[in-house]
Amino acid sequence: MKQEKNLPHFSASSTSSNHFYRGRFSVAPMLDWTTRHCRYFHRQFTQHTLLYTEMVTTGAIIHAKYDHLDYDVAENPVALQLGGSDPGQLQYCAKKAEERGYQEINLNVGCPSDRVQNGMFGACLMGKADLVAQCVTQMQSAVNIPVTVKTRIGIDEFDSYEFLCDFVQKVHSAGCQEFIVHARKAWLSGLSPKENREIPPLNYERVYQLKKDFPHLLISINGGIKTIEEIQQHLHHVDGIMVGREAYQNPALLGYIDQALFDPTCAIVTPRQAVEKMFPYIEQQLSQGVYLNHIARHMLGAFQQCKGARQWRRYISENAHKAHAGVEVIEKALSFVEEK
Ligand SMILES: Cc1cc2nc3c(=O)[nH]c(=O)nc-3n(C[C@H](O)[C@H](O)[C@H](O)COP(=O)(O)O)c2cc1C
Repeated sequence: MKQEKNLPHFSASSTSSNHFYRGRFSVAPMLDWTTRHCRYFHRQFTQHTLLYTEMVTTGAIIHAKYDHLDYDVAENPVALQLGGSDPGQLQYCAKKAEERGYQEINLNVGCPSDRVQNGMFGACLMGKADLVAQCVTQMQSAVNIPVTVKTRIGIDEFDSYEFLCDFVQKVHSAGCQEFIVHARKAWLSGLSPKENREIPPLNYERVYQLKKDFPHLLISINGGIKTIEEIQQHLHHVDGIMVGREAYQNPALLGYIDQALFDPTCAIVTPRQAVEKMFPYIEQQLSQGVYLNHIARHMLGAFQQCKGARQWRRYISENAHKAHAGVEVIEKALSFVEEK
């Protein structure tokens, strides 16, 4: 019965062909990167992409000194990624998030950092499928939005396909219909989080196989995806694509997404258009005491392929942190750029 709670959000029988499936394309949760200001910027490029928050721990939400769930509804659709492993606390946070208008709750079962392992959440939870199942059950019983899980294909020596299937089966039985799979395993010790995003080899075939063996589930693939062509290739095999670093470092990619994946009549949004659409938001945030740099630092990669990109980056880096820096810094930086 619980599984049916997810059904209004998608048609399980037409997942791959349904161009408006909510998670068909998403920008990955990235700590310190996908802040609310970053998401607001990404939203200027694309209306259909699902945007993930950075991981927010249940402890941070429950014992908060400030409001970790605060965001602008114009960022929607936004999925909140939770870090935690206490079913009761996760349930409490999921409920709060739904009340605040988030469109999905995602549980982090992929982060290998020591800090996260000490808190007993993140990737180490792949070894505790029963606990993850319990967490999902508790969250799903409290909310009407989808509860999804972002995971790796394995951890340490537990990297067989059978191990992955067993994990997915158990968590699915608890009511999870959607999995986002980073197509590489994680080493829980010996590699830094950054190395764990680069060194273990990508194994896309394993994620494709998962979709074949669990055709009724929504499976999104993540890891190393950079171009529209790659995205379209993967969509022959899975339901959704999640892109992390490339979306952040080269957000111009996002300007093509709506047209390429959702609606051929959508116009491509250029980086200059996206930057200019940020001006009212920047003014409004500055008036509330936010520093320009907290917003502008997420815009540095906007013009990667363009003449003047270096001056754009340099001008912002040298000026956006100054006291009273305002929109004029961005306008001046824009004047250096020539879009092709
Ligand atoms: C700076 C940074 C922070 C990250 N923080 C998180 C996080 O909070 N939660 C999470 O599940 N994954 C996190 N990741 C991993 C990404 O979500 C993604 O799985 C990974 O970067 C692989 O995708 P990509 O090759 O498209 O970047 C982070 C990655 C980066 C680069």
